Amino acid sequence: TWTAANIAEALIEQVQEQIGATGKAICGLSGGVDSAVAAALVQRAIGDRLTCVFVDHGLLRAGEREQVQQDFVASTGAKLITVDAVDTFLTELDGVSDPEAKRKIIGREFIRSFEGAVTEVLGESVAHGEAVEFLVQGTLYPDVVESGGGAGTANIKSHHNVGGLPEDLQFALVEPLRLLFKDEVRAVGRALGLPEEIVARQPFPGPGLAIRIVGEVTRERLDLLRQADAIAREELTAAGLDGQIWQCPVVLLADVRSVGVQGDGRTYGHPIVLRPVSSEDAMTADWTRLPYEVLERISTRITNEVPDVNRVVLDVTSKPPGTIEWE
Ligand code: XMP
Repeated sequence: TWTAANIAEALIEQVQEQIGATGKAICGLSGGVDSAVAAALVQRAIGDRLTCVFVDHGLLRAGEREQVQQDFVASTGAKLITVDAVDTFLTELDGVSDPEAKRKIIGREFIRSFEGAVTEVLGESVAHGEAVEFLVQGTLYPDVVESGGGAGTANIKSHHNVGGLPEDLQFALVEPLRLLFKDEVRAVGRALGLPEEIVARQPFPGPGLAIRIVGEVTRERLDLLRQADAIAREELTAAGLDGQIWQCPVVLLADVRSVGVQGDGRTYGHPIVLRPVSSEDAMTADWTRLPYEVLERISTRITNEVPDVNRVVLDVTSKPPGTIEWE
């Protein structure tokens, strides 16, 4: 019978076969469920021949770096390196507002950061050609399909963990979750003993907050969006709604301004979009009917606490026709 534990065992065996008895692998942790479960599987398969790399690209949500460093390491005992690549990513993204261009840059820099980390950590052995040959990724079935990897499907978005890989990529890909849907990944994660904080975490895209800023990505805009996102998450959690929503992207319309009034003064600020969705697998989604009181609290707090934001709007579009993320 196909239980999560059986699937986990089968996947661990597949990984052992692919990587062999001496191969080494690295795995990028994004802070999300997928990469954590993929890493935990590979850790089981090859032990400390796996090195996990967490790239802080500056596009993360509040507290995310700490979560990976604490929760994940505590529950798996995995070897973890953190790379601080904030300046590089922001420089490369400077002036870029096209969604696909952002995704490609982020995908490319992500891989470069890995290569840098591998070279640094394994130093000499890389020079001798005996180092890390495998790159583990938490690609899921919907990612594969939407990036055109499935038969007869259109390319909707180039997910950074499938498309946009550079040609000088030096690793063979290990993608143990490639045929699974999100709920199956969570079940496998539980079977592997990962804690709920990791397994029940809502999905967050690899390109992070960069694809939730409609317009150019700057440090200031990231700070605004990070604050708004933290408020929305805090209120949704406090209202006990985490289990009812698949995820709630918070989007900054950085190129849009509207007139507002605060106190006696006219404001001319940016709108924040709330995009709460309910879904089984992210292939389709419905907008979540959040209680008005919760929406009101989020709206009041964001407009009061986040500078330069004077309007909060609710996205009431299903997928299709809208995708979950705005970019
Ligand atoms: P869309 O916007 O395509 O999103 O409806 C479907 C699901 O995928 C997540 N997403 C990504 N995840 N890398 C990822 O790992 C990406 O580039 C990416 N883009 C979107 C999104 O958050 C949603 O859960």
